[in-house]
Amino acid sequence: MNINGIILVAGEGTRLRPLTYTLPKPLIPIMGNPLVTRIIEGLMSNGINNIYVVVGHLGFLFRQLLGDGSSLGVSIRYSEQRERLGIAHAIHRAIEDGADGELIVHLGDNYFGEGLGRFIREFREGDYDVYVVLTRHKDPTRFGNAIIQDGRIVKLIEKPREPPPNSLVMTGIYMFRDSKDVERAFSTIKPSARGEYEITDLIQWFIDNGKKVGYSVTNSWWKDMGTPQDILDLLYLMLDEVKPRIEGEVRGEVNGRVVIERGAVVEGRVHGPAYIGRGSVIGKDTVIEHYVDIESGVVINGGSLSRSLVLSEASLDLGRARLVDSIIGPKSVVKLSSGVVRLVIGEGNTIESA
Ligand code: G1P
Repeated sequence: MNINGIILVAGEGTRLRPLTYTLPKPLIPIMGNPLVTRIIEGLMSNGINNIYVVVGHLGFLFRQLLGDGSSLGVSIRYSEQRERLGIAHAIHRAIEDGADGELIVHLGDNYFGEGLGRFIREFREGDYDVYVVLTRHKDPTRFGNAIIQDGRIVKLIEKPREPPPNSLVMTGIYMFRDSKDVERAFSTIKPSARGEYEITDLIQWFIDNGKKVGYSVTNSWWKDMGTPQDILDLLYLMLDEVKPRIEGEVRGEVNGRVVIERGAVVEGRVHGPAYIGRGSVIGKDTVIEHYVDIESGVVINGGSLSRSLVLSEASLDLGRARLVDSIIGPKSVVKLSSGVVRLVIGEGNTIESA
């Protein structure tokens, strides 16, 4: 039986505009690597080497980065989802383009602290027709909800206004034993009020037709990158697990768990956990406080930064200002003189205080 990974990356990331006008969510780098590459590596380390990537919004950027997958050691094929018709439709598109047999579907904006190994093992060992991963969340109205009775999922509801008590929410990984069942289920469902073929409706078909539906509740953190705060939260979680490594040049001071990539130069101070990407320069009057990710080719002078993500080739002249909880798009130019400032800006912007 074939095993195929399917990664869904077609979404527009509307709540992450303006960043996502030029950079789809799964391509936003965190500590040097975009989420889509981390997901591919996770699938690969579990023996899944055939991967379909379903693209839509700015799909050519995925093709440019990932190509046929050979540089990562996998085989990648692409499917197009031209309209925003939902997760179930995106899976159907990959099946139409040849994904058959066993399917492991991973949303391109989801990430699991515990990795994928346990889920894939349980799916196989339990001989399930479908397997999903659930978690608890403080705001279940943002997600698919699962109602469980006697250890079984009996109902799935997409984004309920009033979530059921003790509700568990659906994360973004779905496993199917047989693509033919998925096609059968897909042929019976209709678009929801938001105009999408919902994953919850697709899997409800399996429940209603007596198929074997398995689930697990993740025992670690899980992030879905919907909003700027979600990206920052994911960054903090990843920085909490960072292994220190200094390959760049430190002329100033570095404390705590810090990664400094090759070609980076630190003249100021960096307090970990923090990541300084290739070729970036931290000027002598700059203080990186903590939970900061500076991607590659960034130049920073003056000021201080805390809990922020600065994307590649941005240039920051901070004076006496303190930048907090911010995301700075690639190639943006920020000139500040003082104050505590929070910015979420896209690619190539110029922000200058008077
Ligand atoms: C989608 C699914 C939802 C699931 C969520 C996980 O929501 O429809 O069931 O809980 O992904 O990230 P969306 O991202 O389309 O709002």
